[in-house]
Formats: sequence, C-alpha cells, structure tokens
Amino acid sequence: MKSILFVCLGNICRSPLAQGIAEKIINEEGLDIRVDSAGTGNWHIGEAPCEHSIKVAALNSVDISAQRGRQVEAADLEAFDLIIALDQSNYENLKKMGAENLVKLGHFGHFNEDVPDPFFFEGFEGFDKVFSMIESCVTELLKEQK
Ligand code: 4NP
Repeated sequence: MKSILFVCLGNICRSPLAQGIAEKIINEEGLDIRVDSAGTGNWHIGEAPCEHSIKVAALNSVDISAQRGRQVEAADLEAFDLIIALDQSNYENLKKMGAENLVKLGHFGHFNEDVPDPFFFEGFEGFDKVFSMIESCVTELLKEQK
C-alpha cells in the first residue's frame, strides 16, 4: 500500500483538509493508499482542526473534525512513500530534516502555486479558495498514483 503524508505548518488548517479530501477520494474510488497529515511546528499538537477548516470541509461533504494535530517526526520521512508540502516554507523545513520523496502540493493540478497560510485570514473568507486549491491538487495527485 502506498502512503502519503501532507505537511503544513500547524497541522490545523491546510494539511487536515488535504488529508480529509484524499481520504474521501480514496474511499470513493477504493484506492490502495494510506494518507496522514502533520505540521512542522509544535504549537497545536493534540488539537482539532481550526473551525473554518472544519466548516469549509463540511460544506463540501468532507469530515475532518476527528483529526488531531501532530508534529512531523524524522521517522515519518522514512515511513511515508511520498511527503507533500503545502508551501515553500514547509518544503524547505522538510528538506532540512532530510526529506527525500518530497514534492509541493502545487506541483499537481493547474494552480502551480503555494497554498496560502490561512491562519491569519480574517474570519472564514478565503477558506473556500484554499479548499478548492487543495481539492484540485489532491485530485490530480491521486490520479497520478494509479
Ligand atoms: P496551517 O496553518 O499550517 O495551515 O495549519 C497554521 C496554523 C497555526 C499556525 C500557523 C499556520 N501558528 O502559527 O500557530
């Protein structure tokens, strides 16, 4: 079974969405892929995803409410076949940790850019854009795994 780890900074806004969207597609299509998510930072270990991510996911029939934040560990870099960074800063931090099978999410799909960090967005605005970017890229990423 192939394994993919999505990594952002806090593991409460973006990478939980990537994990939830991927899990939904994997379930619907019966794919033999395991996914997880983590953050490079340690501020939100054990926390639920941010409320706006839970909301935008729910509006799109994706349930991320049971996920809990965790920090990426060196062992993850060996354990997962593919490490997906949500933005350039995550990518560079993971490279420093020694990640090899590392690709930015924006490499997939048509956005070809970093997924912006929504942590300092004003309220809910912008989360729908973040969702659609992540959804488009994750869809393409999973297509390429077939
Ligand atoms: P995420 O967003 O990386 O998409 O989960 C963030 C969440 C928390 C922080 C930064 C980004 N923070 O600085 O606590």
